[in-house]
This record gives sequence, C-alpha cells and structure tokens, in this order.
Amino acid sequence: MASNTILVCILALCFSVALASVVPVQDFCVADPKGQALVNGVACKDPKLVTPEDFFFSGLDKPGNTSNPFGSKVTSFNVAQIPGLNTLGISMVRVDYAPYGFNAPHTHPRASELFTVLEGTIEVGFVTGNPDLRHFKKVLNKGDMFVFPYGLIHYQKNVGNGNAAAIAAFNNQNAGMIPLAATMYQSQPDICDEIVARSFQLDQGFVKNIQSKQ
Ligand SMILES: *[C@@H]1O[C@H](CO)[C@@H](O)[C@H](O)[C@H]1NC(C)=O
Repeated sequence: MASNTILVCILALCFSVALASVVPVQDFCVADPKGQALVNGVACKDPKLVTPEDFFFSGLDKPGNTSNPFGSKVTSFNVAQIPGLNTLGISMVRVDYAPYGFNAPHTHPRASELFTVLEGTIEVGFVTGNPDLRHFKKVLNKGDMFVFPYGLIHYQKNVGNGNAAAIAAFNNQNAGMIPLAATMYQSQPDICDEIVARSFQLDQGFVKNIQSKQ
C-alpha cells in the first residue's frame, strides 16, 4: 500500500514536470532575436512592443525554387520567420518537388512531423531505431497524410509525373533538421574519412573525394 502511494506520487511528479515544459505560463512570449538573455530558446520581447505582425507570415502558397541537385526545396515557417511561435511548440514547412525530386534522409531532433500532400504523388518512408531498423513506406496522393515519429530518419520522393508539393506540421517552434549525408560529408572540420568509409562500408578514397568536393 505504502509502495503504491509512493508510486502514485512519483507518477504525479513526472506528469507535473512534463506538463510544466509544455503549458505556457503567459499569453505569449514573442521571440526577441536581439535579446541578450541566454535561455533555452529565444528570450521574450517586451509584450508592450508586440504587434500583429509578430504573429503573421505570408507565402505558404508560393512554390519554392527546386532548381538544385535534389530537385526539392523546403520553405520553413518556424520561430525564425514568425516570432510569435516562440515557446508555443508548433511550426510548419512547405516542401516543393520537381519531377524525380527528393528530400534526402534526415531527422528532426526536436519534433514529430505530420506530412500532408497538397499536389502530386510522393513516396515517403521512415526507419525505426535499433535493433529492428524497420522501414515503413507508402505512396501518398493529394490530401493524404503521413506521420514521421519523433526523431526518426525519414525521406520523401516525387514519384508522380509532374511537380509535387506538401506542407508539414511540427510539434516544436524550432524542430531542427539533421541531414544524414551532409552530416557525414560536409561537417567542418570533416569527420575522419576512415570512420565514414568504414561506417558505410565504402572505399576510403571515395569518401575522401566526396568530402573534398563539399
Ligand atoms: C532558381 O534557382 C536557380 C539556381 O540557383 C536560379 O538560377 C534561378 O534563377 C532561380 N529561379 C527563380 C525563379 O528564382
């Protein structure tokens, strides 16, 4: 009985700690990019100086420029573009894909993602962590949604005949993005080519060559 009471108390404490980090403690904390305070996120602007523009951003209807080697473009609508998102735990992106365009494998270290197709046909997939490394993939059409769970590596590819576009929502105002290949080949300074080559079971000279081109 006593141990049950202790367990209930510990659970209650866990829930209150978890909730404390999610529920706002004021109406808003609009980001002040010039703020000097070193906080976990961005400091709040003086509420008296907040205007409707802090909660506004336009352009979700504008396709991004996909003329690049990936044939895709991610346009972000997060706390960097909309200061009023600060501390609220939500943000969005628009992703455009040229024919054969793809969004290379990446993770968002601070969010789950709800991906929604606006136009075209897009193959999506994510892979679970060790030990199973299960690959979940599906072909989506206009209006279809797919979830990329918190932190898992995922990708998208335009498999239709024309352009494709999607919007995605994140449960973080600053979800972050870690691109798998670029992390291996473009870090400054380089991750030692031997480590990259042996991790991917590639020839070390091949890796050195890719790294030198970045
Ligand atoms: C798209 O990007 C390419 C490559 O950077 C550039 O040459 C082109 O002018 C851009 N197109 C538009 C419409 O901005």
